[in-house]
Amino acid sequence: MSEKKGRNLQFHIFKYNPLDENDRPKMKTYELEETPGMTIFVALNFIRDRLDHTLQFDFVCRAGICGSCAMVINGVPTLACRTLTSSFEDGQITLLPLPIFKLIGDLSIDTANWMKDMSKDIESWIHTNEETIIDGIEKPMEPELADEIFELDRCIECGCCVAACGTKRMRPKFKGAVALNRIARYALDPRDKRTEEDMYEIIGDDEGVFGCMTLLGCDDTCPKHLPLQTKIAYLRRKMVQVGRS
Ligand code: SF4
Ligand code: SF4
Ligand code: FES
Repeated sequence: MSEKKGRNLQFHIFKYNPLDENDRPKMKTYELEETPGMTIFVALNFIRDRLDHTLQFDFVCRAGICGSCAMVINGVPTLACRTLTSSFEDGQITLLPLPIFKLIGDLSIDTANWMKDMSKDIESWIHTNEETIIDGIEKPMEPELADEIFELDRCIECGCCVAACGTKRMRPKFKGAVALNRIARYALDPRDKRTEEDMYEIIGDDEGVFGCMTLLGCDDTCPKHLPLQTKIAYLRRKMVQVGRS
């Protein structure tokens, strides 16, 4: 008995090598047969193995953990490894690199340097004068608080929230939801001795929490479902209070 054939998928993929001065941005179409449980990640590997060895895209974990496979899939920034081709009924799939970040080539972008600069900008580390004793016993923390901090620490730095942000398009220096989430994380942490006034210095302007237009593209697209909307609203309330005092 012959095996049932999968449906035909058409991938329309952005192609451009910025290092080649003769190259121009273009869309290229690839056709392939869908297999059961196929993800965009699997399809891209098939295309690269069988149809176009030059196709550039990133992945590491294939499990929604590393954040490196984020791209714009049929208009929505999301993770290629967590997106099933079966979710597109007409079998037409358009792939673009995430905007905002530096393009390396085709679907591959440089989020790492952007995230590094963002981390420096918001001083993304615990600020304390207490001496760190590496082999000492960890100070206990209430489990509920530890859970709350861990919830925000689940960010995988995929860049989807930044790519989906209208404010970021208009204001290149806007810090974005990933940075605001990070600040909310340190504001919760009793080991970080920064005051609310210190936080205001970092995010109390139009490049920080007051620039956010609350259109919630970030919250809609975050593949880890972080509570971005709640945390941005919380920070805004806090920073308004600090600004008035
Ligand atoms: S809610 Fe704010 S941070 Fe989130 S996408 Fe909109 S403008 Fe950007
Ligand atoms: S907040 Fe969500 S969308 Fe933004 S970088 Fe982190 S995991 Fe990705
Ligand atoms: S490959 Fe790691 S999140 Fe998709």
